Amino acid sequence: MTARIIGTGSYLPSHVVSNQDLEKIMDTTDEWIRSRTGIEQRHIAVEETTTSMAVEAARRALENAQTDAKELDLIVVGTVSSDRHFPSTACEIQSALGAVNAVAFDINAACSGFLFGLGIANAYFASGSFQKALIIGAETLSKMMDWNDRSTCVLFGDGAGAAVVERSEEGIISMVQGSDGARGNVLSCHNRPVNNPFVKNDTALDYTSMNGQEVYKFAVRTVPEAISKMLKEANVSPDEVKYFVLHQANIRIIESVAKRLSQPAEKFPTNLQRCGNISAGSVPVLLDEIHRKGMLQKGDKIVLAGFGAGLTWGSALISW
Ligand code: UT7
Repeated sequence: MTARIIGTGSYLPSHVVSNQDLEKIMDTTDEWIRSRTGIEQRHIAVEETTTSMAVEAARRALENAQTDAKELDLIVVGTVSSDRHFPSTACEIQSALGAVNAVAFDINAACSGFLFGLGIANAYFASGSFQKALIIGAETLSKMMDWNDRSTCVLFGDGAGAAVVERSEEGIISMVQGSDGARGNVLSCHNRPVNNPFVKNDTALDYTSMNGQEVYKFAVRTVPEAISKMLKEANVSPDEVKYFVLHQANIRIIESVAKRLSQPAEKFPTNLQRCGNISAGSVPVLLDEIHRKGMLQKGDKIVLAGFGAGLTWGSALISW
């Protein structure tokens, strides 16, 4: 048995920030951002929170899947920007949806969060006692950026994407996941330091820091390798894949992966121009957009791939 996606949904904040808007508040240019990344604008939360966006994306996915929240027995949320340390975003979503029969928890796999969540659903379904799951990637990374650090804050956007998956004979054909904690420092954000009556600690709040070039090198090498390995294991040629839905960090990374897989750019849908990098939200938001545009037909083979902090990476070959 495997996991099949039966509905998708997404939510983006209404406030849009263009590269030109950023030019007015920091030392950057539309030309630099566009030429280095492909990003033209991003949605930034003003009224929204990670939970509110995730709940809306989840409602849309449930409606799309014609599934009642009470049918869910698992809710997994990939996020590194939850509103509270606890309870989890997943438990807050469970409450908002009335998904009273679900087990709910968050996972921290950064931009691979949605892919790791799919892997968890797949494994729970294989155990035999779970039938329907809601997998979400939701982020408000704007609150974790140093808005004086132009090398990071221009790259990211906020948003949430969700998928309803069910136990099925067909769906996920193959998955590859990996982590390399030894390289974790190239993209990180510290949590609160130890601070109690026995340790005095006045360390200021930390923000996201990234060695962009190291992450870039990691992505252009690991992502095509992981996808190739997964396709080989499944005995599926890249030519048989209709779309490669990759994490939307940088158009140059996507073009490089396409080249390494000897596949045309048209097979790699993008939304980073409008959305920037939504971390765990990136893959499910894009998946929802292409699904709603009618680009996916039953039986199509598609590849989903995420990569990011950890370092982590994950890909899935799916029969739609
Ligand atoms: O979701 C997690 C995955 N994240 C990624 O995949 C990110 C991967 N990395 C990248 O996409 C690229 O490395 C970046 C887009 C982050 C940076 O591109 P780059 O070509 O590696 O630029 P760089 O970091 O080498 O910076 C080049 C120059 C520097 O100036 P100097 O030292 O050459 O004078 C930076 O200070 O660009 C400068 N710079 C900027 N200039 C204008 C950095 N950020 C900006 C900016 N506006 N926003």
